[in-house]
Amino acid sequence: MIIAVDGPAASGKGTIAKALGRHYGLPVLDTGLLYRAVGLSVLKQGGDPDLEADALAACDFGDDILTDPALRSEAVGSLASRVSVHQSVRQALVQRQRDFATQPGGAILDGRDIATVIAPDADAKIFVTASVHVRAERRYRDGLAQGGHPDMDSLIADIQARDIRDMSRDHAPLKMAEGADLLDTSDLTIERAIQQAIALVDAQL
Ligand code: C5P
Repeated sequence: MIIAVDGPAASGKGTIAKALGRHYGLPVLDTGLLYRAVGLSVLKQGGDPDLEADALAACDFGDDILTDPALRSEAVGSLASRVSVHQSVRQALVQRQRDFATQPGGAILDGRDIATVIAPDADAKIFVTASVHVRAERRYRDGLAQGGHPDMDSLIADIQARDIRDMSRDHAPLKMAEGADLLDTSDLTIERAIQQAIALVDAQL
C-alpha cells in the first residue's frame, strides 16, 4: 500500500503523513528533506543553487546531513526550492524515493510530486493545503517556540515566493494529481485534520 501526501509549504502535510504512518503502521518519507539536504549541501560547498551543475554536485550528500538541525530552517527550505527546479537534481533523487515507496509492506511519502511523478499508481492520494496566512502563522508559532524572532511579513513573502516557484517550475510542478482528494486544513485543528485525512484515505482504499 502506497499513500501519497502532497501540498505546499507549511500546509500540515508532514504532520498528517506522520499521523497516517502511525495509524496504518507504515514507514514515512519526508521527501522535502532530500531537497533540503541538496540545498544545504550546495551552501556548504560554496556553490550557487541556481546553477544546475553546482546543485547536481550537491546531490551526492552523505546521510549525516539529514540530521543537521539547519535543515528545517526557512532559509534552507528556500534553497531547497531553488535547487529543486533543476531536472537533473530531481532525477538524481527519484530512485531513492521510488525504492522507499515500493518496499514490501508499503509506505507513505510526503512532498510536492509524489502522486504526479514518484508514485502515480499510489493507492491513496491526498493534497493538503491551507491559506497563506494560516501557513505563515504556523511558521510564526514554530519560530517563537524555537526561541526565535520571526517576522510575519517576511514569512508570508517567503511562503508566497516558494509557492510560486514550486507551482510554476517546468519539471514536476506542485499540482493536485488526478484522483487526489483535497484537504484544506486552514480552519481545522491538527486532530480534526488527521481524522479527515484518515477518512479520505479509507474511502480511497
Ligand atoms: O516540504 P518542504 O518544505 O520540506 O520542501 C522544501 C522544498 O523542496 C519545496 O519548496 C520544494 O521546492 C522541494 N520539494 C520538491 N519535491 C518534493 C519535496 C520537496 O520539489 N517532493
